[in-house]
Amino acid sequence: MTTTDASARALQLNAEGQLRHFLTIDGLDRPLLTQILDTADSFIEVGERRIKKVPLLRGRTVVNLFFESSTRTRSTFELAAKRLSADVLNLDISTSATSKGESLSDTLLNLEAMASDMFVVRHSRSGAPHFIAQSVTPGVAIINAGDGRHAHPTQAMLDMLTIRQKKERFEGLKVAIVGDILHSRVARSQIRALNTLGAEEVRVIGPSTLLPRDVESLGCRVHYDMPSGLKDIDVIIMLRLQRERMEGALLPSEREFYKVYGLNTDKLAYAKPDAIVMHPGPINRGVEIESAVADGPQSVILNQVTNGIAIRMAVMSMAMSGQRAQQGLDAEVRA
Ligand code: NCD
Repeated sequence: MTTTDASARALQLNAEGQLRHFLTIDGLDRPLLTQILDTADSFIEVGERRIKKVPLLRGRTVVNLFFESSTRTRSTFELAAKRLSADVLNLDISTSATSKGESLSDTLLNLEAMASDMFVVRHSRSGAPHFIAQSVTPGVAIINAGDGRHAHPTQAMLDMLTIRQKKERFEGLKVAIVGDILHSRVARSQIRALNTLGAEEVRVIGPSTLLPRDVESLGCRVHYDMPSGLKDIDVIIMLRLQRERMEGALLPSEREFYKVYGLNTDKLAYAKPDAIVMHPGPINRGVEIESAVADGPQSVILNQVTNGIAIRMAVMSMAMSGQRAQQGLDAEVRA
C-alpha cells in the first residue's frame, strides 16, 4: 500500500475498520467494496416497495452541499437520504453566503452549528471533501459527490453494482473506458474499483490529448483506436467530453471525435456480442454515443441511475454507523 493509500484509508475508516467518511476508492480493500455492494443489494428491494422507506437515518440531518451543478447525483443522494428517513437540506451554493465572500470553512461552521450529521459535497476543486473531512467536528460524516478531476467514488460503486448485476462477477472481465479520461474523476475511481474488485483487464481508449500523462500507472492499458481497444471487451464505459474542465483546444472537432471514438452500432460490434454499454451521464447523443446504442438492448445506462440510489443509501448508512461506533470508542477512552 502506498503512503497516499494508507492516509486515505486512515481518514475514511474508524478504529475498527468501518467506513466513517467516503472520499475516494483509494486505500479501500476488496472486502469493504464488496460490503458496500452487498449492502446496496439489500436496499434495492426497498426501492421496489410501495412505501420506500427504512428508519436507519431517522432524526439525522443530511446536508447536500453542491458547489458544482448536478442532476442525477444530487437527486439520487436526496432520494437516498429520504428513503433512509433523514431530514435533508439542499444548499444551492450559487445563492448562498459563499457567493457573498464567506469562506468554505465559515459556511461549514455555520452548518455544523445547525447540528448536521452528514455533508454530501461536490466541489470543482480536487481535494475539497478531504479538506472538510480533516477539519469537521468528530461524528459528522463526509461523502464525496465528485471533486474536480480527482474522484467520484459513489459513481464508481454504482457502476460496479451494475456490472455485478449483469455479469455476476469481476474475475475474468475486460472493461474499456472510452473518451475524455483526462478530465474524468469518474474514470479514476472506476479504474481503482475495478482493479480492487479483481477485473482481469481495464483499458482506456482515447486520443492522446485526452489521456493523462502516465495513465498506465492508474492501473490500465492504453489503446488509441476502437477496433483494437474494444476487442474481447465485456463492459464499455463511455464518457462525456468535459468541456468545462478543458483548457485550450484539445480536440480537432466534435465531429472528428465522434467519427473515431463515438460509439455506434458498427463500433459496438468490435466488442463481445454480450457486452454491456454504460455511461455516467449526462450523455451527449451524436458526440460520444449514438442514440441507437444509448437506447439499445445492450445499454444499462438507466439501470446505473436506479442503482445510484441503493449505493448512496448503502454508503450513507454505513458511514453514519461508522461514526456512531467511533464516538462510542472515543467515549470509552475518555471514561
Ligand atoms: C459525472 C461527473 O459529474 O463527474 N456525472 C455524474 O456524476 N453523473 C460525469 C460527467 O459530468 O460527465
